[in-house]
Amino acid sequence: MKNVVILISGRGSNMQAIVNAQIPNTRIAAVLSNSESAAGLAWAAELGIPTDSLNHKSFESRLAFDQAMMAKIDAYQPDLVVLAGFMRILTPEFCVHYEGRLMNIHPSILPSFTGLHTHERALEAGCRVAGCTIHFVTAELDCGPIIAQGVVPILDNDTADDVAARVLCVEHQLFPKAVADFVAGRLNIQGNRVLNTDSQPQSSALLV
Ligand code: GRF
Repeated sequence: MKNVVILISGRGSNMQAIVNAQIPNTRIAAVLSNSESAAGLAWAAELGIPTDSLNHKSFESRLAFDQAMMAKIDAYQPDLVVLAGFMRILTPEFCVHYEGRLMNIHPSILPSFTGLHTHERALEAGCRVAGCTIHFVTAELDCGPIIAQGVVPILDNDTADDVAARVLCVEHQLFPKAVADFVAGRLNIQGNRVLNTDSQPQSSALLV
């Protein structure tokens, strides 16, 4: 059984998708947040999952917060730490501590559009596709070996909210699969690449 600790900052729909997937050999050991009002905490608590929060505003530095969060996380002896909409920039200390067992979801096709407002920026740039990326976390923001990516079309009349909703559906499929692949030992990090010993999808073009 592998222990997974999930960090959230808000509604936690990706966390819910991972919990609902009931991944074999996986115990969701805790759901933690930097905000006690994160809606996802109440959802998890109702299922009997341990929850806790630490308000980043009550720490004098980013590192002090990260160290306190690491202590909370480590109490659950995690095999994997999942950032599911955890809206904090992490210190190198945090990233190194969980190297190879820290996973993030980012709502763009990385390495394009790191940071915030990804869908607005994809629209402004005239992109015909948008998507999301699951990656192992390294100290550089929204970088690190890519585990999986999902792509959706951008349609002519789309707003950023339309794109976000379309991408979110893909996030909810992709993230539980990435966690399941990790737990099953199917992911091999080789430099910037992550090789997956699971069967690969048949190659097919997405023409938009
Ligand atoms: C998702 O779009 C994720 O890609 C981004 O933040 C959002 C979190 O949504 N990092 P939720 O809290 O999982 O619903």
